[in-house]
Amino acid sequence: MKNIIIAIDGYSSSGKSSMAKWLAARIGYRYIDSGAMYRAVTLYAMRNGMIHPDGSVDDQAIVKSLPLIKIDFKVDRQSDSQATMLNGEIVESEIRDMPVSNNVSAVAAIPAVRHALVDMQQAFGNEKGIVMDGRDIGTTVFPNAEMKVFVNASPQTRAQRRLLELSAKGVATTFEEVLANVVHRDHIDTTRAESPLRRAEDAIELDNSNMSIEEQSDWLLKLFNKISSCNN
Ligand code: CDP
Repeated sequence: MKNIIIAIDGYSSSGKSSMAKWLAARIGYRYIDSGAMYRAVTLYAMRNGMIHPDGSVDDQAIVKSLPLIKIDFKVDRQSDSQATMLNGEIVESEIRDMPVSNNVSAVAAIPAVRHALVDMQQAFGNEKGIVMDGRDIGTTVFPNAEMKVFVNASPQTRAQRRLLELSAKGVATTFEEVLANVVHRDHIDTTRAESPLRRAEDAIELDNSNMSIEEQSDWLLKLFNKISSCNN
């Protein structure tokens, strides 16, 4: 069967990463988490004093540092998982914590950061057989992707899901704090000038607010089977 490119976009904590990861493992494709790349750049900026305590961002310093930031994914074949690497260091856990979540959308709105990461993301797609999730995969990174999904759920549902994830990791936070972060990132992501979050015209929309993981997986696999049979 011919390999295709699958773009899964959507709002923060909508479950798109879990969907993309699950589908990639199920069909033997490579999974790329584009959000992890924006998070890694944000962590680098925070560690190097480019984000100030009041949340303001030194855009110029970040853009100047881009050539020094190397992002990669370390794949563990045994557990079928992967870890984000920043300049050779595994930062998978740190990039998911609230301090990075609170700053990432401001960093992701810087046009030069987006251009650099989009180039890297497109290079991952050279060989097809890829599932990538993010905000602009179907619109900017792979506008010709054969399969495009746009995932949404209510802000409350998304905040509740993220809270469970963070609690499982032992992170002390509250529903209100997580909901505020979700709403804040939605706002920045949808209103930024450079490739804002929006559904590609040819993307299939899924509101998974009231769907179980099994129903969602089933829906996704059926869609993949339909689209890949049309592309062969
Ligand atoms: O996991 P969650 O959906 O909350 O976020 P993520 O996918 O890890 O992405 C973190 C942030 O990076 C988003 O809120 C966006 O601001 C930004 N992002 C983006 O601008 N473009 C992408 N393709 C992926 C993420």
